[in-house]
Amino acid sequence: MLLTENNLMRVTEIKRATRESPRVKEFFFHDEPCSKGRPGQFVMIWLPGFDEIPMSLSSTHPNGLVSVAVAKVGEATELFHKKREGDLVGVRGPLGNSFQLERGNVLLIGGGTGIAPLAFLAEELAGLKTGITFLMGAKTKEELLFLSRIKRLSTNTKFRVFTSTEDGSFGHKGVVTELAEEILEKEEFDTIYACGKELMLLKIFRLAQKHRTPLQVSLERLMRCAIGLCGSCVIGKYRVCVDGPVFTDRQLKEVESEFGRFRRSLDGSKVPLQSLR
Ligand SMILES: Cc1cc2nc3c(=O)[nH]c(=O)nc-3n(C[C@H](O)[C@H](O)[C@H](O)COP(=O)(O)OP(=O)(O)OC[C@H]3O[C@@H](n4cnc5c(N)ncnc54)[C@H](O)[C@@H]3O)c2cc1C
Ligand code: FES
Repeated sequence: MLLTENNLMRVTEIKRATRESPRVKEFFFHDEPCSKGRPGQFVMIWLPGFDEIPMSLSSTHPNGLVSVAVAKVGEATELFHKKREGDLVGVRGPLGNSFQLERGNVLLIGGGTGIAPLAFLAEELAGLKTGITFLMGAKTKEELLFLSRIKRLSTNTKFRVFTSTEDGSFGHKGVVTELAEEILEKEEFDTIYACGKELMLLKIFRLAQKHRTPLQVSLERLMRCAIGLCGSCVIGKYRVCVDGPVFTDRQLKEVESEFGRFRRSLDGSKVPLQSLR
């Protein structure tokens, strides 16, 4: 069990809430420990009287402000979306490990809200003058998160962004893994970073294996304690909350029988991945 300072709940006020897409709002709040968080790390947000849910850090700022990008998918996130400036939430974090920053020529692949932690990562990598190719995918143009924030990076670094939408409203018509497949056939990368639905990550894992390119992915699992106790986030020999959420291709290989196939339900039993989505 990892019981550290970061795991003590702090109460904080929502400073700002901005709509990022029809389904996603970005919430800003002050929290000193979280403002030292790294890309890939997550926080547990307590919605008083209701539930505590995991959210990746979307941005951190030197003045102690941090943000999370929240997609409305169920009861807790619907309640979150109703929060306004001045409302209180509880926060624990930053939790888990983070992406390792690599130099050279890197490929970032984000789907849906998976774009949020990768936007944060891209900003950090841009500071190292890493060459970045960012592939972003969503169902529609309006659901492509942080497009202008990401495009701003092209001013000071070797940076390219390609988009895909399932309805063809912006960029490639199709899914982001098709863009990935295409670019990996033509170019070599030193590292691939990916975040999104697990079935998308499984496809990226197979592509990375085929092209012998090191991979780091951020996994989402059901989380309750976030300190390695309850077991609800288990994948093979790992607990995503403390051993992850970022895993390398080598670690994913070790849990290949579960990755993209099974996860744990609320009662701890192993269930097919699709049954929870
Ligand atoms: C490390 C990590 C980082 C995440 N980052 C983000 C993020 O940046 N933005 C974002 O919008 N979402 C993120 N999520 C997912 C988010 O936690 C869930 O969407 C949220 O908990 C759903 O709560 P709900 O009651 O609204 O929906 P529910 O009705 O409970 O469930 C809707 C879906 O969310 C999944 N889910 C439910 N509870 C949890 C939980 N405690 N942990 C993980 N998944 C759950 C369910 O399997 C289901 O598929 C992250 C999850 C993890 C584990
Ligand atoms: S969330 Fe409880 S062990 Fe990971």
